[in-house]
Amino acid sequence: MKVIKSVAEMAEAREQAPRPMALVPTMGALHEGHLSLVRRARSEGATVVASVFVNPTQFGPNEDLAAYPRDLERDLALLEQEGVDLVFQPSQEDIYPSGFATTVDVGALGRRLEGEFRPGHFRGVATVVCKLFTIIRPDEAYFGQKDAQQTLVIRRLNADLNLGVNVVVCPSVREADGLAMSSRNAYLGPEERRASTALFRALSAAQARFNGGERDADKLRGAMVQVLRMEPLAQREYVSVSDAETLEELARVDGPALALLAVRIGNTRLIDNVALG
Ligand code: PAF
Repeated sequence: MKVIKSVAEMAEAREQAPRPMALVPTMGALHEGHLSLVRRARSEGATVVASVFVNPTQFGPNEDLAAYPRDLERDLALLEQEGVDLVFQPSQEDIYPSGFATTVDVGALGRRLEGEFRPGHFRGVATVVCKLFTIIRPDEAYFGQKDAQQTLVIRRLNADLNLGVNVVVCPSVREADGLAMSSRNAYLGPEERRASTALFRALSAAQARFNGGERDADKLRGAMVQVLRMEPLAQREYVSVSDAETLEELARVDGPALALLAVRIGNTRLIDNVALG
């Protein structure tokens, strides 16, 4: 496994790499969710590239950029174990050199839900993913369904800017009690970890109501709120029942839809979603 630390070196490596080239973009602090993406990439790509870059532009001024978990040595060991060929681990200066001014904004999609609570977040994500796609030029790139809105933003930018990458979305990976894997789970104390199961319990309640025939989106949102209210450590930011493509809030669920939520457990902000139908 080769670790590449500069854009120039990456540009050279991509020309030599056997195709198809499969990319797994990450911010490090790897967990089973990331590794499931790497395994899928390994099974489909001739060359597997993982990027490890904690992207400052997707963090708001009051968010956890400085505290974001970092353990490069462990990440590299895990990636090597999974048979990754190239790790792209650029510096901030390489990605955002002095004078950097261009950003990618995907419009309304990036301003809903997460975008409302994290203004500018998706501009940061779209900009860095656009840069990673143009620097690495993968044939395929793999993302987790846990970040549902992020996957839609990336599909949008990939189509709108003709980046030509096959964007592959893989199922969320969960702990045995349903908590979706996330690097931020490491922040949870034992009591908070117990409380964090409220997210999946709330989503499962909406899914059960949907499977029982309920199509009124307010009732499905209400089922999630009811579960969250019973957990004193859970502070709700949003619960949503939205169109699976546009993320517009629905009145009724008549086609592909997602139940999504964002909840603070103590100081840790967690998101999750499930498909309805
Ligand atoms: O999902 C993530 O880890 C990040 O948002 C991504 C896609 C690597 C962009 O920084």
